[in-house]
Amino acid sequence: MHVIAIVNLKGGSGKTTVATHLAARFARLGHRPLLVDLDRQKSSADWVERRQEGLPRIDSIVLDTDDLELPRSHPFVIIDVPAGMKKRALETVVLAADAILVPVLPGVFDEAASARFLAAVEEFKGVRKGRRPVAVVGNRVKRGTAAERRLDTFLDGVRFPAVAKLSDSQFYLSAAEQGVTVFDLPVGRVRKALEEWKPLLSWIDEGVGG
Ligand SMILES: Nc1ncnc2c1ncn2[C@@H]1O[C@H](COP(=O)(O)OP(=O)(O)OP(=O)(O)O)[C@@H](O)[C@H]1O
Ligand SMILES: [Mg+2]
Repeated sequence: MHVIAIVNLKGGSGKTTVATHLAARFARLGHRPLLVDLDRQKSSADWVERRQEGLPRIDSIVLDTDDLELPRSHPFVIIDVPAGMKKRALETVVLAADAILVPVLPGVFDEAASARFLAAVEEFKGVRKGRRPVAVVGNRVKRGTAAERRLDTFLDGVRFPAVAKLSDSQFYLSAAEQGVTVFDLPVGRVRKALEEWKPLLSWIDEGVGG
């Protein structure tokens, strides 16, 4: 079983977006992944409900953060973690994962909060000993802006690799509404977005197998 957790204490950074995208990508490869929603808001579980018949199948389950018993039924498990989770529960999730992705939004408040969060993650057993790969994903990037340059400087200073920068795009808002991802649409419509996901997917495949 391969487990990938998408975490950040900061709300709205793109955890559910990255989690649903990775699930859809594994589904596209024929792996029938399990998307584990730890968020009481059930955003990713609801997103799975909105997926139309005919799209590659994603199974979903809502679990309590205090009782993280991962089912062993699926070879690929993606965990969507809520914002503001307690440190101990977060450490349990990190210990259950083979790879950890941390989406970060541009902006001084998000970057500062994410820096503190990453420093805490670095101290977790298993991460400290280098057994669990952690990577950062810049999200909602407005290309060519001062905000992007700031984010680049932030990402350069982070101890973990930055494996992708995803542009800010209306696409992600409508994809969330419609239960789809860039991996569900004709390549011609989403070519640029797909390019942005490539280095992240390579990192995942090297870490956990694809
Ligand atoms: N690259 C992007 N471009 C535009 N909108 C985006 C992008 N990524 C995410 N969004 C939108 O931003 C909002 C927050 O994203 P998302 O729900 O993935 O964050 P989250 O970290 O899961 O939030 P929460 O902490 O509340 O669980 C959503 O409406 C989502 O559709
Ligand atoms: Mg979420």
